[in-house]
Amino acid sequence: YKRITVKTLVDMKANGEKISMLTAYDYTMAKIVDGAGIDVILVGDSASNVMAGHETTLPITLDQMIYHASSVVRAVSRSLVVVDLPFGSYQSDPKEALRSAIRIMKESGGHAVKLEGGKEIKDSIKRILNAGIPVMGHLGLTPQSIYKFGTYTVRAKEEAEAEKLIEDAKMLERIGCFGVVLEKIPSDLAKKVAESISIPVIGIGAGPDVDGQVLVLHDMIGMTHEFNPRFLRRYLNLFDDMTDAIAQYVDDVKTQDFPNDSEKY
Ligand code: KIV
Ligand code: NA
Repeated sequence: YKRITVKTLVDMKANGEKISMLTAYDYTMAKIVDGAGIDVILVGDSASNVMAGHETTLPITLDQMIYHASSVVRAVSRSLVVVDLPFGSYQSDPKEALRSAIRIMKESGGHAVKLEGGKEIKDSIKRILNAGIPVMGHLGLTPQSIYKFGTYTVRAKEEAEAEKLIEDAKMLERIGCFGVVLEKIPSDLAKKVAESISIPVIGIGAGPDVDGQVLVLHDMIGMTHEFNPRFLRRYLNLFDDMTDAIAQYVDDVKTQDFPNDSEKY
């Protein structure tokens, strides 16, 4: 694929090709992620944690998301760029949701938006879709509702919540979303959802029987090291590598090993 579109993703599911997705929040990282062949880059509101050091995703603003997203868009030549609508930018009413989505599309150049929730935000999603903006859903553990849940533990283990999640996923497909993220739910339930809808289901902590996987970039490259859920596979240990490199630099400066004769003018 030369350029991934929302249509490409739906075709991938139909053809049984798994979809790869990672977050990115800045130009330099997005350049690497896009160049390495990722299908979808998510400018997640996890930037609130990863970039800004907040405890939750709630504080990040629409302006800050637009800043991150526009940096990512400038780096990307192949991936589809999906941008999270942050907490407080779409929950009040559908008009506010549409206004926020339009700002993201106009000011960042992102290709689609993602919103957390099911039937509660159905009218807002419809409004955004009506404007021609592709929407990705997000069900299961929805971090913007952390104060309602109380913990970041696995969601939808109980029948009632599982039923609602399936209904919500079907609704998202029906009204025209191009995909849905399922976060931290039992893999049997995720499998059931992926089998009951034809739009791609991208899992994080949702097991193998979905149409694609997403991870937070800084977690999968091991830049963070205090967050260790079972679903996280670390492909690098950059926390240790960077700590060693920086400690070496400090030592080289102190001992005047750096700069040497070939490193000066
Ligand atoms: O913000 C984010 O990184 C996300 C993914 C975990 C799906 O929403
Ligand atoms: Na998010």
